[in-house]
Amino acid sequence: MVKICCIGAGYVGGPTMAVIALKCPSVKVVVVDIAVARINAWNSDQLPIYEPGLDEIVKQCRGKNLFFSTEVEKHVREADIVFVSVNTPTKTRGLGAGKAADLTYWESAARMIADVAVSDKIVVEKSTVPVKTAEAIEKILTHNSKGINFQILSNPEFLAEGTAIQDLFNPDRVLIGGRETPEGQKAVQALKSVYAQWVPEARILTTNLWSAELSKLAANAFLAQRISSVNAMSALCEATGANVTQVSHAVGKDTRIGSKFLNASVGFGGSCFQKDILNLVYICECNGLHEVANYWKQVIKINDYQKSRFVNRVVSSMFNTVSGKKVAVLGFAFKKDTGDTRETPAIDVCKGLVGDKALLSIYDPQVTEEQVKRDLAMRKFDWDHPPHLQPNMGPTTATTDVTVCLDVYEATKEAHAVCILTEWDEFKSLDYKKIFDGMRKPAFVFDGRNVVDVDMLRDIGFIVYSIGKPLDPWLKDMPALA
Ligand code: NAI
Repeated sequence: MVKICCIGAGYVGGPTMAVIALKCPSVKVVVVDIAVARINAWNSDQLPIYEPGLDEIVKQCRGKNLFFSTEVEKHVREADIVFVSVNTPTKTRGLGAGKAADLTYWESAARMIADVAVSDKIVVEKSTVPVKTAEAIEKILTHNSKGINFQILSNPEFLAEGTAIQDLFNPDRVLIGGRETPEGQKAVQALKSVYAQWVPEARILTTNLWSAELSKLAANAFLAQRISSVNAMSALCEATGANVTQVSHAVGKDTRIGSKFLNASVGFGGSCFQKDILNLVYICECNGLHEVANYWKQVIKINDYQKSRFVNRVVSSMFNTVSGKKVAVLGFAFKKDTGDTRETPAIDVCKGLVGDKALLSIYDPQVTEEQVKRDLAMRKFDWDHPPHLQPNMGPTTATTDVTVCLDVYEATKEAHAVCILTEWDEFKSLDYKKIFDGMRKPAFVFDGRNVVDVDMLRDIGFIVYSIGKPLDPWLKDMPALA
């Protein structure tokens, strides 16, 4: 029986290993983590992450060929293949702070593997890492290896949160990079044979190590760039009377462009896009490619612009002040069907509104009050340095102008405005008449995800702003301050 151990029981490690266990009954899969609470949750009925379809798979495989454990060293020692799926956040201090990837967690995992291994192993980079990381990892492993043979593979993960199980079942591609030596290629084949249990061969791409590492950063940069491109257009649509939904539909019909990932919004979020682009920018700068670095940096600048443009629109529409006004925030997760709030645009929007002294009442079907408060008190880039790994990096300030509600109607009651910041399906079919009746007048809706039926809401009496859509006459008279 092949034994797989995955270090890191997070959004990638957990679902990916659950699917490998499901699809490969003859493989024993153990997911290990130093976060005791996270492992306890994986072993309970309340999994630590929300992902459609995940519960069923874990229930089916757990205790048979899928295990979650804090006995990191034991399971690494026993494994034939070790996936490393730890977090690789942006550095918050020192050389490259605010841009470079912080490989502290990766390096400590690699050193531990070298220390405890007593047999040959394939070590798989699952985390997103800077190109050439495998070389550094190889050095750590071989310098401490006691004659053990380690093969490093790069196998970046392309799943998207919210559709992780679907993406893992039916991936566009699986990418495996390895050394171009006979031993390297043997390791590539070994990992390929795991995925080949359910992924068609033609979709399993093999490359050299550096292409695999760079492809992940490139893919995220291209995806984020599409969002920033359509968001840049949304600002021009508002200025000209064009409708961004119609523009992106027309643009996306060109088969060279394609229709996916062209929705205008308040901005992209999630743990990866910003971090990976910053990392790409840093690598370009280190290689003297300043024009290339500046090109990609612009994708993040437009994203920041989009978030502040939204806040400015809210404030300017409401007579240039939200001080003391209740503003209901619907949705806090960075996208629908996940409870993940890392780098969610809601953080910057909420901080912007609180900065203008608004009183926020926040509702999200999957995000807890504790999480919201922690996020709003966190400093930039600290969000992906979990407290259990960085004991000195807890929240900095408590936020008192924020309440978290368990119900939309309670959140919107007596509010002056509603801001929709996540595209949860349930926000499409709320009783907006009831919401309107309970609100202060004039009642505003600022739709940062284009989920509401603008005409219907205007008929009810709302003043509606929807990103990139022709402006309400009221808003035309109150130009955004951006
Ligand atoms: P995460 O933060 O949810 O999980 C990482 C886990 O690793 C944490 O539970 C942490 O306690 C654990 N860990 C850290 N150091 C450890 C060590 N030395 N020993 C044992 N456990 C340790 O992170 P997530 O979202 O799963 O991301 C992991 C990697 O995958 C990152 O590099 C990310 O960029 C990449 N990625 C993430 C995607 C996503 O949608 N979240 C998609 C594709 C790639």
